[in-house]
Amino acid sequence: APEQVLKGKKVTITAGPTREALDPVRYLSNHSSGKMGFAIAAAAARAGAEVTLIAGPVRLDTPAGIKRVDVVSTEDMLRAAEAAADDCDLFIASAAVVDFRPTVVAAQKIKKEDDNESDVLQLVKNPDIVATIAGRTSKRPFVVGFAAETEKVAEHAKGKLARKNLDMIIANDVSDPEGGFNSDRNQVMVIDHAGEQALPAALKTELATQLVELIATRAFPGQHQ
Ligand code: PMT
Repeated sequence: APEQVLKGKKVTITAGPTREALDPVRYLSNHSSGKMGFAIAAAAARAGAEVTLIAGPVRLDTPAGIKRVDVVSTEDMLRAAEAAADDCDLFIASAAVVDFRPTVVAAQKIKKEDDNESDVLQLVKNPDIVATIAGRTSKRPFVVGFAAETEKVAEHAKGKLARKNLDMIIANDVSDPEGGFNSDRNQVMVIDHAGEQALPAALKTELATQLVELIATRAFPGQHQ
């Protein structure tokens, strides 16, 4: 059996998209399937962790031995993340969070005839979940983010590592049709303050095992020699 590199650790993982309602029938979202985050949750559980998986709306079964919290909106995901992070050693944000939400959610279906086109969609910025957790001054877990980039992958990911005060960031080039959103495979680069390391393209399920081992070594050094 593989070494239980996360034995006794409490791990929280966000996965999937968030969804922001415009009216009772429409929403803003993205193509995240949750596969990457669910694979990490399963790998962390196999590595001995007590896992809380905060999942946006996805069509995936819950991996064995995991506590799953289902959410829809970004604000719901933030609330669930804050609650889980209060008792957590490691926080991994793989969710594709919608950055903006409609200023108001229309109570009735928006009618074509009602508005000037330019007034239909007014947006406000959503809170940044991973930056909120990483910005804590107490009860701060080791915080790992993801970066979904379409160009200058390493450069943009390093910017997010610094701006969001993360301990580590996992960058993927989501313009690569072989990886990223909704694919079974992915290729990532792991970046922290010590350096960067590109991992070969692999199934998300296999990559997740490697990522969990790498994260455990950095987050809890000296525990598993
Ligand atoms: O779900 P899959 O189909 O398997 O696809 C996997 C994935 C491509 C979604 C995943 O590997 C990935 O890259 N997840 C992050 C997607 C993303 O939205 O990245 P970002 O660069 O916009 O955000 C950077 C980091 O901040 C992420 O850790 C994100 O979770 C976090 N964030 C962003 C905005 C926000 N309001 N709150 C956040 O916590």
